Amino acid sequence: MRKQRRVQEVQPLRRRGDAIFVIDQLLLPRKTVYRRCATPRETAAAIRDMVLRGAPLIGCAAAYGYAFGARGVKTASPAVLRKLDRDGALLLASRPTAVNLAWAVARMAGKARELHRAGSGRFYAELLVEADRIAEEDVSANRRMAELGARLLRPGSVVMTLCNAGALATTGIGTALGVVRRAYRLGRVKHVYPCETRPYLQGSRLTLWELMREGIPATLITDSMAAHIMKTERIDAVFVGADRIAADADVANKIGTYGLAILARAHGVSFYVVAPSSTVDLSLRCGGDIPIEERSSREVLWVGKHPIAPRGARARHPAFDVTPHRLVTAIVTERGVVRPVNGAVLRRVLGKAR
Ligand code: MRU
Repeated sequence: MRKQRRVQEVQPLRRRGDAIFVIDQLLLPRKTVYRRCATPRETAAAIRDMVLRGAPLIGCAAAYGYAFGARGVKTASPAVLRKLDRDGALLLASRPTAVNLAWAVARMAGKARELHRAGSGRFYAELLVEADRIAEEDVSANRRMAELGARLLRPGSVVMTLCNAGALATTGIGTALGVVRRAYRLGRVKHVYPCETRPYLQGSRLTLWELMREGIPATLITDSMAAHIMKTERIDAVFVGADRIAADADVANKIGTYGLAILARAHGVSFYVVAPSSTVDLSLRCGGDIPIEERSSREVLWVGKHPIAPRGARARHPAFDVTPHRLVTAIVTERGVVRPVNGAVLRRVLGKAR
């Protein structure tokens, strides 16, 4: 087993009392600045503006945001529940694709109703405990997926990844990047190619930053280089995260994932998705039903303060795409590995009756 370089763990979200402090990911890798969110509105704004991002982390932040809406409440009334419903709706509206957000808000709303029914005198405190629990479960899900995913690789593998599915996207070691981390320690990964991930550059700004801190050998490529690198270098596998997985096992993830899956298939490269069960949405029949966030075209037409297209140019910015399940070699969840990838196996691994 490789010795791990001792670096301070990345903690994109910390709770201190009645607030969370989140790393402003828009400022990475230049500086690490924590921003305070202490209300549902502040939390929703941080999610919407991508101060924090990544499906599992969005879910954890939303859970805290929901709890903050009940600050100071010892015993809930129907009016408190109605106010929390409004807070939940505000959080839900912040970003549409990652289902972890809706999952976390629904879980918190369920807990709120349970506490109300039981006449709890510790309403706010118990909601905070539930949000802490969601964050802790994410840590252990990450660890479990890392173990399961690392087993899919032969020693000395070279892998490619897109976007950031690392510690910055979760409260643990990451989903896809958690697997890479673990596999590197076991000697199963020797090199990583992160794709830069236009237009938000999560691959170059965040994933490469995480890899370099830990001394994991990595070479940045632009998204358009992926085919060439797959053809001319040895790439053993692609690992990506997910924002939502529909009942047929189709996968929504960062824009560019679908293209990468097609390239992987064309070059005989395994294509793995790593995501916790909270990312699965069995209420949606197929990938085509997944809402795809359309962000501002300014994010495509500008890099920082610099325009990179003629004045008045039009652009599109779908932030996610859907990869058909037939292009996915396996989906790694904390409950087990879905392989072959289809709706029936997904349900079986998740332990859901047909
Ligand atoms: O727009 P982002 O940065 O929130 O998109 C993130 C992704 O697409 C990740 O791959 C996904 O959330 C999985 S994170 C563990």
